[in-house]
Amino acid sequence: MILKNDLLLRAANGEKVERIPVWLMRQAGRILPEYRQVRASLSGFKELVETPEKAAEVTIQPVDILGVDAAIIFSDILVVAEGMGLTYEMEEKKGPYFPKTIENLKDIENLRIGKADTDFAYTIEAIKITKKALDGRVPLIGFAGAPFTLLCYMVEGGGSKTFSKSKKLLFSEPEAAHKLLQKITDSTIDYLKGQVEAGADLIQVFDSWAGILSPQAYEVFSIPYLKQICEAIDSVPVTLFSKGAFFARKTMSSLPCSAIGIDWNMDPIESRKIIGNGKTLQGNLDPCVLYGSEKFIEEETNSMIKAFGSQRYIANLGHGVYPDTDPQKVKRFVETVQSFDVRSITT
Ligand code: CP3
Repeated sequence: MILKNDLLLRAANGEKVERIPVWLMRQAGRILPEYRQVRASLSGFKELVETPEKAAEVTIQPVDILGVDAAIIFSDILVVAEGMGLTYEMEEKKGPYFPKTIENLKDIENLRIGKADTDFAYTIEAIKITKKALDGRVPLIGFAGAPFTLLCYMVEGGGSKTFSKSKKLLFSEPEAAHKLLQKITDSTIDYLKGQVEAGADLIQVFDSWAGILSPQAYEVFSIPYLKQICEAIDSVPVTLFSKGAFFARKTMSSLPCSAIGIDWNMDPIESRKIIGNGKTLQGNLDPCVLYGSEKFIEEETNSMIKAFGSQRYIANLGHGVYPDTDPQKVKRFVETVQSFDVRSITT
């Protein structure tokens, strides 16, 4: 199907754009009352993720309500663990957790490789329904968590201050850790290929906990698996977002991805210098800027764009939008990007 708005894909592919594309990480759900209404009609988050018609509905809400230039399929990074045999639960106000965690080699050996057409069938179906309903209005982003970030969740059972259990596995039993990372990678590749076949126009990989590793450990425990994913997904652009991994920008610039996500601790001009012109950059407004006045949001957004330049750039936040953000402020951010005159700057 021909896309009526393909700005995101052109920007990701390094083609010229007449306007800067914008979307927000975690735009589906969280901030919209319309989302909470759909969610309230079901038993909870998990049922929403696993009910394709409803997942499609909340995927499209931000396109209708916020006017963003892309939809991102409503799901969660934890579904890959579930597809491998490790079930997650969602606790109100606390977030997701794994009642049973990965503790040893035997637990790792007991996991299966998740398959798109069986273990992840609900998300694949949600993508098909969403693509049909979008009718080419904007591209649809598919996603998965990076193997390293998934390992952290599966070992810790949830979030953590130190991630010492995960790092203990990496450093005391590296062979077991690599076995787990490879199993997650194999599952993720099958899942992402299924997403692309079902219609996802671009894939983003979230390495949300990248920043807890040293540059050396990141090279060993994350980069090789990101590389495998980039190599396997060769028919649509791939965006890698390694939160906090400022130290990995140079290495990431040599991976076969199209775009690299930047968080707000990383300077756009410095990032462009390190990464070079071969990749599109995405980011990086501090989500907390959206708590400020509309005037403040406009000023911060415009100066961010001037620092990134208008080409090979996708405007976004530096991490997911926070749940208590006023949708009106999000709209101001989106409209500010969309009304930026790309001819007013040279790049
Ligand atoms: O981006 C989107 O809008 C698409 C949907 C999406 C969700 N989770 C839905 C969700 C995406 C891309 C994710 C990714 C995700 N999930 C990440 C990586 C991105 C990041 O922020 O670093 C991570 C680390 C998770 C794990 C997760 N899921 C946590 C920690 C939580 C609880 C806190 C929170 O983020 O709200 C979730 C739950 C979750 N995933 C919600 C949504 C809309 C909130 C559930 C609800 O209350 O309805």
